[in-house]
Amino acid sequence: MSQTKTLRHRKRQLGQFLTPPETARRLVSDFEFTVTDRVLEPSLGCGAFILPLIEKFLPLYDGPTAGRLDQILTRNLYGVEIDAVLLEECLASIESRWGHRPARHNFAHADFFAAAFPHPFDYILGNPPFGGTIDPAIQDKLDRELGRRGGLKIKKETYAFFLVKSLDLLKPGGRLRFICSDTFLTINTMQGLRRLLLDTGAARVERLEVFSDETKYAMVVLDYAKTGLADSVIVDGKRIPREQIALTGNHSWQISDEYAPYFAGPKLGDFLVATSGMTVGANALFVRPIIDGKLVEPYEFSYYEELITLKREVERARLGFIAPSKRAEIAARECRGETRRNVRIAPRILPLEVALPHPDYRYYNKAAHTLISAPPTHAIYWKDEGDAVLTFKKNGNWYLHGVGGQKFFGREGLTWQLISQTLNVRHLPPGYVLDSGAPCAFLREGISEDELDFILGWTLSPLCQSLLKDVINHTKNIQSKDFERLPYPFWVSAEVKQEVISRVKLMLKEAQAGRVFGWAGGEIMAVGNLFERAH
Ligand SMILES: C[S@@+](CC[C@H](N)C(=O)[O-])C[C@H]1O[C@@H](n2cnc3c(N)ncnc32)[C@H](O)[C@@H]1O
Repeated sequence: MSQTKTLRHRKRQLGQFLTPPETARRLVSDFEFTVTDRVLEPSLGCGAFILPLIEKFLPLYDGPTAGRLDQILTRNLYGVEIDAVLLEECLASIESRWGHRPARHNFAHADFFAAAFPHPFDYILGNPPFGGTIDPAIQDKLDRELGRRGGLKIKKETYAFFLVKSLDLLKPGGRLRFICSDTFLTINTMQGLRRLLLDTGAARVERLEVFSDETKYAMVVLDYAKTGLADSVIVDGKRIPREQIALTGNHSWQISDEYAPYFAGPKLGDFLVATSGMTVGANALFVRPIIDGKLVEPYEFSYYEELITLKREVERARLGFIAPSKRAEIAARECRGETRRNVRIAPRILPLEVALPHPDYRYYNKAAHTLISAPPTHAIYWKDEGDAVLTFKKNGNWYLHGVGGQKFFGREGLTWQLISQTLNVRHLPPGYVLDSGAPCAFLREGISEDELDFILGWTLSPLCQSLLKDVINHTKNIQSKDFERLPYPFWVSAEVKQEVISRVKLMLKEAQAGRVFGWAGGEIMAVGNLFERAH
């Protein structure tokens, strides 16, 4: 890797998006500290928050600047930074600004997750790393310490874990102010964090219109006081009551008076079960594009017995870790010369042209932005119920072992793109193997087949799109759980429901015959408008 690339990589790994000094100064300006206050900056960078904090404390002491600085840096300010270069920059900035470099201070060159503090703090301020990497050596330990609060999972993400550890370190009544990614407002995996904040204090979130040129992620300022269970949060100046938050199923902080009534009835998850699909791990080996009803197969698949070795098992294991008893067991199997079945994938001398449908191949449900219905674009080698693919996965790294959505393979349902600004739903015909890039939903037992058309029609409405993107998950990701949490349109009359079903059936027929539907089309809009609630 070139030096620039390595630096960029390291910067990303450490989530190093430094706060512009004027933003940090503004975020510190309204605090009124006292000489006994202890303030922590848990990832101080080059001191964007530290410098204005020092300015705030200086007038609280008497005497020459050097002496006052010494007191502030040993009594009031605490900090941690994992990058020695940035920490040195912070100290150098203090020296150049006040002409004195305190010999003693409470700034540690350390990993915040491994750092211990002898006392709690009155204030914790900063901008914790977002999307950074957690040291693999302590990941599992941290997961045990910080990965669960109030019975809910906390996502193993640097800013989420920074926040949880910081809340633990805050005194009752203490204040925390963090710049962080806006993703925590809605996404399902941050549900535990939202609950924790609401259950332990008063939170207020304000969008940061402009953060920095270094990142395009939307950022917010989270202001929190550890004052015990709260009955609401304030987001962008609006009060969101706890009861409304609870209605959404994922404790979204983007619910509003306007949208809350839609969440008061059944959800799509009562009618459909949604699932993710499978990650093959190496699509190029098994998945082929379909061109004019044919595919070209460059490989030949055969099976062989591979010797089991401890070295290979360690390579495949999560974080390279295998428990001692398991290690001993594998070593013994290695000694006995035991083997495991694996698949050999060899290039053919002449690629094979295969006309579809073919018994050795199944259509593969790759994501597509098409609405209503789309012809299959890919097929997967699936001879003997996917033996080659499943054997390949079983022999691959630990994260490939599971087969997402396997029990739904072949079923008829609905499907959409995982990553998209809009929820683009189409009908999934029977017979497909499912890909992780296109989650799917299937009727629950006993639910009428017409519901599939009705719900497909519902997803075409602007209202459904808003409920998903404004309330349930405002990021580009549309997970299966997000889909299940969408309200079922219980407010639509039986007559209108029938009309939706008839219209969708007709559109489906036309789409299957080759017609392409787009969001701007008259029929789509007409179906969508049928879901408007009468006020
Ligand atoms: C988003 S930057 C913010 C820095 C500074 N607080 C600011 O506002 O400019 C995050 C900082 O966290 C540091 N960092 C990343 N992982 C850390 C860890 N585990 N412990 C302590 N610092 C860490 C990075 O080096 C980086 O300086």
